[in-house]
This record gives sequence, C-alpha cells and structure tokens, in this order.
Amino acid sequence: MSTTPQTGLEPATPCTSQASDRSEAFDRHDASDTSEIWPAEGTSRIPFRVYTDADLYRRELEQCFYRGHWNYVGLEAEVPNPGDFKRTVIGERSVIVTRDASGEINVVENVCAHRGMKFCREKRGNRTDFHCPYHQWNYDLKGNLQGVPFRRGVKQDGKVNGGMPKDFKPEDHGLTKLKVATRGGVIFASFDHEIESLEAFLGPEICAYFDRLFDGRKLKLLGYNKQRIPGNWKLMQENIKDPYHPGLLHTWFVTFGLWRADNKSRLVMDEHGRHAAMISTRGQGGGGEVTSGVSSFKETMSLNDMRFLDIVQEDWWKGPTAVLMTLFPSVILQQQVNSVSTRHIQPRGHDSFDFVWTHFGFEDDTEEMTQRRLRQANLFGPAGFVSADDGEAIECSQEGFEQKPWHRVLAELGGTGVENTDHMVTETLIRGMYAYWRRVMGV
Ligand code: FES
Ligand code: FE2
Repeated sequence: MSTTPQTGLEPATPCTSQASDRSEAFDRHDASDTSEIWPAEGTSRIPFRVYTDADLYRRELEQCFYRGHWNYVGLEAEVPNPGDFKRTVIGERSVIVTRDASGEINVVENVCAHRGMKFCREKRGNRTDFHCPYHQWNYDLKGNLQGVPFRRGVKQDGKVNGGMPKDFKPEDHGLTKLKVATRGGVIFASFDHEIESLEAFLGPEICAYFDRLFDGRKLKLLGYNKQRIPGNWKLMQENIKDPYHPGLLHTWFVTFGLWRADNKSRLVMDEHGRHAAMISTRGQGGGGEVTSGVSSFKETMSLNDMRFLDIVQEDWWKGPTAVLMTLFPSVILQQQVNSVSTRHIQPRGHDSFDFVWTHFGFEDDTEEMTQRRLRQANLFGPAGFVSADDGEAIECSQEGFEQKPWHRVLAELGGTGVENTDHMVTETLIRGMYAYWRRVMGV
C-alpha cells in the first residue's frame, strides 16, 4: 500500500483509463437484449449490473424464488403445537406456516381470496382458524375457505337481498397453498407444485451435510436476530460462498484461529453449483504465514470473558469445527463451533434485504451447553463480533456497484473454473453460483 501523502486534488489513477472503461461499459449497460447483460469474459467477471438492475431483480424473484426452488420458511420447533403459526416470506411474498389440528405443517399465502388483503399481521401465535378483518372471510389452518358472511344474502321485508351467486363454491376460493417439505425439523416450501423433491433439489453431497446438522434430534429454539442490510440479496449468498475474506476481514476469526486460510478445509457444491458447503477444521490461532501483514490480526488482542472461546467438541461434528452451507436462494445453515443457526434471506428490492437469524440448539442439550451456544451466538447477528463486519462489507460493496454500474466484479481467486476443492484459497463457489444463475436467468 502506498504511503505517499495524497493532496486530494489529483486523481490517484490517470483519468484516461477510467474514461475508456466507462464509455465501453455504457454501451453494454444500454443493451436491452438480455444476452448482452453479461460481458464475454465469462462467469468469473460479474457485472455490477446484476446487483443494481431493478428489472433483473424482478426476474430473479420469479425464476429463483417463485419457480423451481425450495425456500426455507422456518423450523418445526417454531410451531410445535397444533394451531401454532408463524408469518414469514418467500422472496417478497408473505406466507404463513401453520401446524393444523392433525399436526401437519401447511404453508399458505397471506393474501385473502376475497379482495386480496394481506390479512395476517401477527408475527406468530396460536389459533384455530384465520379471519380476514376486512369482510371476515374465514379460513382453516390448511387455507380452506370455511366461512363467508352474508353468503346467502340478508333477509329484509320478506325477501332475501344480495349474497354470493348460487354457484359459489367455497372449495374453489381457498388461500394459495404451497408445496411443503420438511427434513430434520426444517421446513421448506415452494409456490411451484411441479418442483422436484427436496432431496433431489439439495443433491446427495449437500444433503449429507444437511443431515449432519439436522440428524433427527429435536431442535430447541433459542432466539432470533434480525437486521436489514442495504445490499443486493445475492451478496449474502456470496459472503458465505467466500472463504477468502473470513481470515482477512474478521479480526475475531484470524486472531483466535476459528477460520483461517491455513485451516484444513473443503469446498463442496451440488451438481448445479447453486448450493454449497464450506467445511473447515479449526487450527491453533496465533502467528504464521497467513497472519503476517494481515492488518486484522491482533497479536495482543485478548478477551475479558474467555467463555466466548469455551469450545466443546460434539460427536455429531464428525471432525469439522465449522460447516457453513448456502442453499440457493433463501437460506444459510451455520455451524461455527457450538453455535448453530439458520439465516433467512428476505429480499426487499434490488438493493436491500432482511436477514433473520434463528439460533437453536437440541432438546437433549444440557443447560450448560445451551448457555455455551447462546454465548457463542454473540459472534453472529447484526452486532456480532464477526458478522457485523459482513453486513458493513455488503453495504459498502453495494455502494461501489451503484457508483459505476457498468463495471464488474473480479472473482478469479483459484482460477476461472468451477470445481470442488480441498482448500479455501479460491472463489470457486461464487463462480459456481453465477454459472447457475446465468442458466436460470437466461443471461
Ligand atoms: Fe378479506 Fe374481504 S378482503 S374478507
Ligand atoms: Fe464473514
């Protein structure tokens, strides 16, 4: 890095190169043909436009969230009893997850079949049925319409006024019902009833890592964090497909050895490159090649409360101390030592998303283990020792993209190809996701 003092009056690089960069890219930016959105160089160079273009974003909602993909909606432990429900979203569409009287999980769209009101406004609760407040249409927990006020009209002066048409059939006017799949206590849903099975969607290798974490033990809900990040939703998928940054950006990881480039690791994708697992085993921390010159490494940093590093090896880990999974498009599944959580990506326009963390444990945990998981959860969430850095990096990346939308990202660490690796000095998972995204989006 240069130590020459800058006056602030002169550009650090010659104006000419920026000007040509800009005019060349404006040609591309104005292209209306979608085949021209992506420049010729290949998937390792990602146009800033894929993060800044509102039309592309609307297509993503259709192609990535509403069609052909299973979306995470919650944990069974969030709706343990008959009548329990939680409101959440798939893409930008509001849905309700319910457990009906028979114990079955249902997911229905939160839009009244009458005149479209988004009727459910509670985050969670327990009910026997749903009433839309506008005209009191009533639905059971499976989304079937069971009551319509004044359906047969109102008697007045010896005659019947109004009412629904004689051939009105309530069974034709339920809420939109989604296809539901559960595995290991995790609930997924899809608007697309033609979708493949959840297991086929995950693919065998990713499914095996999913089952490592959700191995049939009952889950125990520990709590939530929620944050709004002013960046494109894909940046959060990328963040957890990017093993390059954690040992450089995160002082916490590099100093205490939880995630460093010299940790034993593996990167695994499904056959499409859309889902991934980053698997790492904690090293010893301290100095060494991967920390020399790294400004975030603080040799003398220590903790006032050492319990944040009170790590206890668990049998179900089967070796790795951290497995971070990205399931496209909607969720990250995290094990970082004893802290386990799901992180739900909820897009809000092309430049913002809500990020909802559900911290959990297992019903057979001791109280001591529950406290340990809760303490280690301080690394994560909006103010986490580690994750606060990621939110800010995403926000500042989006600012960079908006500033010169004709430019592109360079994701060429480890080459330009897409392959599983047994090290983490590569951006292969990001390239894998964009190779898939281009196929799904047709760009
Ligand atoms: Fe729901 Fe009328 S809009 S009952
Ligand atoms: Fe990070």
